[in-house]
Amino acid sequence: MREIEKPYVILSAAMTIDGKIASITGDPELSDDEDWKEVHKLRTQVDAIMVGKGTIVKDDPKLHIKFYDHKGYFRIVVDSNLTIPIESKVISFQPEIYQTIICTTENVSVKKVKNFEERKVKIIQSGKGERVDLRKLMPLLKDYGINNILLEGGGTLNWSFIKNDLIDEIRLTIAPWIVGGKDATNLVEGIGFNTMSEAVRFDLIELRHRNNYVILNYKRNK
Ligand SMILES: NC(=O)c1ccc[n+]([C@@H]2O[C@H](COP(=O)([O-])OP(=O)(O)OC[C@H]3O[C@@H](n4cnc5c(N)ncnc54)[C@H](OP(=O)(O)O)[C@@H]3O)[C@@H](O)[C@H]2O)c1
Repeated sequence: MREIEKPYVILSAAMTIDGKIASITGDPELSDDEDWKEVHKLRTQVDAIMVGKGTIVKDDPKLHIKFYDHKGYFRIVVDSNLTIPIESKVISFQPEIYQTIICTTENVSVKKVKNFEERKVKIIQSGKGERVDLRKLMPLLKDYGINNILLEGGGTLNWSFIKNDLIDEIRLTIAPWIVGGKDATNLVEGIGFNTMSEAVRFDLIELRHRNNYVILNYKRNK
């Protein structure tokens, strides 16, 4: 795949032994206290955090930073048609510390865009297809001064990053549970590759365990 100018992307997630990042009812509570602290530390080390629209609609997270001193960062939401509720916490919670960027397609109306801009949200538009064109988006984010991104899912957005080979590093916590459910969200959703030879490959660079949790760190094998 052609190389593009892009921020360094770290996929961060907590999953069960069976690869689920939420239960069938959408319960995403997988991290223990120590893992939460590590995730928040990681948040202090990046320019931006990114999630898909599904995560905003299902969890309504603030995407803020706790436990550590920090200088804030960008909260990026990928939402093709600009349909997340305007009262979402990612917009209303402390916008003076964490600027929110919503990435949409170019098909969104000027009126809708204005409505969000009035709430201090920055809108970045990429592509005219059904969904945000991530390969076009990456250089735009880099031009906006974003050199590294913590990608915090969910599974649908993770697949688009994998498919487009845009992930440089993975930081994964495995909780010692099995939750099952064929419709529960997997770490990576989407249609998948046909064969293992097409799979995107990573090198294991760190393996730790504590309190029955396993923490894995991988880097893209190029
Ligand atoms: N355990 C964890 O670490 C963790 C972390 C994060 C999330 N989660 C869980 O994951 C679940 C949400 O995952 P999800 O798969 O439903 O949703 P998601 O990946 O958060 O969001 C997917 C949505 O993003 C939008 N999108 C825009 N452009 C896209 C593109 N190029 N590729 C892919 N998506 C694009 C699409 O909606 P439009 O077509 O409308 O734009 C798509 O449906 C929640 O239950 C959450 O709790 C768990």
